[in-house]
Amino acid sequence: MAGKPAASLSSETGSGLRIPVHLGVIMDGNGRWAKLRGKRRTDGHVEGVKSLRSLVEHCITYGVSYLTVFSFSSENWTRPADEVSFIFNLLRRFVASDLQRLIRNNVRVRIIGTRDGLEPSLVRLIEDVEAKTAQNTGLTLVVAFNYGAKAEIAHAMRHLAREVAAGRLDPEAIDEEKISASLFTAGIPDPDLIIRTSGEQRLSNFLLWQAAYSEFVFVEENWPDFDEACFVRVLETYSLRDRRYGGIGATES
Ligand code: IPE
Ligand code: IPE
Ligand code: MG
Repeated sequence: MAGKPAASLSSETGSGLRIPVHLGVIMDGNGRWAKLRGKRRTDGHVEGVKSLRSLVEHCITYGVSYLTVFSFSSENWTRPADEVSFIFNLLRRFVASDLQRLIRNNVRVRIIGTRDGLEPSLVRLIEDVEAKTAQNTGLTLVVAFNYGAKAEIAHAMRHLAREVAAGRLDPEAIDEEKISASLFTAGIPDPDLIIRTSGEQRLSNFLLWQAAYSEFVFVEENWPDFDEACFVRVLETYSLRDRRYGGIGATES
């Protein structure tokens, strides 16, 4: 069934760690990281990119298949214009500086979010990185950029409504699978685990539909401080979770 959490695929490593097939990360706390050090918020975003680079490597090492990172939300437009343009330029620089490394590491990149209203040169860059990594078969790195889950669901509903209006789709045939397949994340299993850094405990409009049965782990570290030790600690916590999906516990009968 499309959209089903991929728990059954979660692999056990020799260390007893359970590795999520799909990991989602809300990379939060760049601004606070900078403020604590008397730096500018934008310095925090620069450090955050370093953390992202390391996370991609950890995911490859530990065998995560899909990594979705929240890098800019549709609500982040309410920030000061210079911070928004700094973050946009960081995405450009990340793609320019890391594309060859991503290709070498067999990483496939997908960028989800609304492209309408983005500068044409940015849209071309997004399409270019997706095309140049499309044949890769290793980690899928999904970057949620200009992404909001409610907007994603509205976009999917408009698509399905157009199919119905055109006579190509029977309303009775609209099921969970068809909705999943109409989202930006079509073809990607639902996240097994979602991590949010910086102590905040909310989704902030990240993967609402897809997170129906995700496990959540909230950590206190700000995103630039999230290192391999934090990553392993989160996996240890996740490994202890009993995912019941509405059933009864694995140890009960
Ligand atoms: C996350 O860090 C990055 C983005 C949302 C783009 P923040 O910029 O939200 O940092 P805080 O939450 O203000 O500390
Ligand atoms: C969520 O963080 C978005 C990203 C990490 C890109 P925010 O910092 O925007 O979320 P709120 O405003 O604290 O809910
Ligand atoms: Mg924040």
